Amino acid sequence: MLTLYLVAGLLVTLFFIRRLRSPITKIPGPWYTVLTSWVLKYHEFTSNRRLYIHDLHKRYGPTVRIAPNEISLASLEAIREIYASGGSGYDKTELYDLFRQFGIKTMFSTLEKQSHSQRKRELADRYAMTNILRDEHVSAIADRARAFVSRCVASAESVDVYVWLHCFALDGVTNFMFSPGGLRSLDSEEDFEIMEELTYHQSLQKNLLHYYLPALAPCFPSCLIPRHSPKTNEYVLRMSAQQQPSQHSLVAKLARKDSPLNHAQVAAECKDHMAAGIDTTGDGLCFLMWELSRPQNTRFQDRLFEELTNADPDTPIDKLPYLDAVVKEALRCAPPIPMSFPRYVPAGGRSIDGHFIPEKTIVSCQPYTVHRLDEDVFPEPDSFNPDRWMDEKGAAQRNRLFFAFSTGGRGCTGRNLAMVEMKVLLREVYSRFRTTIAEDMRECMDIDDQIISSRPQGQTCKLRFSER
Ligand code: HEM
Repeated sequence: MLTLYLVAGLLVTLFFIRRLRSPITKIPGPWYTVLTSWVLKYHEFTSNRRLYIHDLHKRYGPTVRIAPNEISLASLEAIREIYASGGSGYDKTELYDLFRQFGIKTMFSTLEKQSHSQRKRELADRYAMTNILRDEHVSAIADRARAFVSRCVASAESVDVYVWLHCFALDGVTNFMFSPGGLRSLDSEEDFEIMEELTYHQSLQKNLLHYYLPALAPCFPSCLIPRHSPKTNEYVLRMSAQQQPSQHSLVAKLARKDSPLNHAQVAAECKDHMAAGIDTTGDGLCFLMWELSRPQNTRFQDRLFEELTNADPDTPIDKLPYLDAVVKEALRCAPPIPMSFPRYVPAGGRSIDGHFIPEKTIVSCQPYTVHRLDEDVFPEPDSFNPDRWMDEKGAAQRNRLFFAFSTGGRGCTGRNLAMVEMKVLLREVYSRFRTTIAEDMRECMDIDDQIISSRPQGQTCKLRFSER
């Protein structure tokens, strides 16, 4: 028995010595993060990881230890090193295995750089601005924006834009990928059910269980499957086998005759882009319209109206500076993916922001903090103020710290599509209507964390539309 106690004591002592001698102990952070990751896990399971980390940054500065093997950073130097060094930055962690589709790796869920860049080469041209701005894509987006407005004005006193913005985002992204087979969830009940399936789910804790207990995952009951989506799967599998997709659609490129991807890989890639394109654009627009509709922000809405109505109707959508400022400010305040994008420090370790960090340590930056921590760059960081983007002074620094789409070779592929969709919709709405918060709006619009993304807590945003 004594030997057992001695061995146990020795093992505990060795554990403490190893932890205390790690270079990570020199990084600022609460004492308990040297010994355990349980506090971080607790905040993850209670949907509070982002705010917990943000609070640590406010107390300890731009580099903070959040677990024995995990560091969060928030400076420009760290962003460049982790996400853009050598083009694509460091390799992703196994968290991204959660984002496999049909059990297959996609571009987003590929962990290593090499295989990622091969996949990216197959599809990158589809997301180039020159392709997105093709008349067939823009007119399809404008058609969906008009369908959105019709839905909203039909119920003059109060309309839940959260629902219709998700339909708009879904119709936009599926049209881009599968044209002429894109969804019309703004008009069709059957397609609307696909939007519901993708939008209303409780999957944070289920995803975390799969991440932390992968070996047990095959034994989990079906109620622990995150985001069950049979209708979406059927649609994506059918569309990925389409015989004559439009020449400029994503599926036409991925499923072309000499494509290295088989049908299942094409379907997995498309389902991933569909999922990536609905919540992000839908939630981003929802937070934006909510902010513009608040009484204290009327002046921003009026300034946007002035720009949109004074501009020549043929002005290209990306040449309206205040519209751009409004979108950027909304994505700064409530980035649709606000949480850490975790990466492994490569072999040999790296020096980041003046701290040596050993190999295999998990490092990350989270947009929510990057957009708020440096108050010289973003004064009054919690206030929604699009005007800050119109000031030439400090513009370069603000743009460099704009991190909503991440950066480097693994930054958002759909950025151009998302920006065009958001701007086309806003031009359609705010050149003709004033929006205010509806009287019956009771639900909470706080950011609610999901696995890396977020959504408004009440998943409801009731606004009133009135003609100008
Ligand atoms: C406002 C809207 C959007 C935001 C804020 C956003 C943000 C992001 C971010 C931050 C990442 C990197 C995440 C990480 O490294 O963990 C990402 C990746 C990605 N996004 Fe978006 N996204 C948006 C819309 C879209 C749309 C509309 C699509 C496609 C239709 C899309 C497709 C992708 C893809 C495929 C990746 C993976 C890129 C890669 O691994 O190379 N996103 N997005």
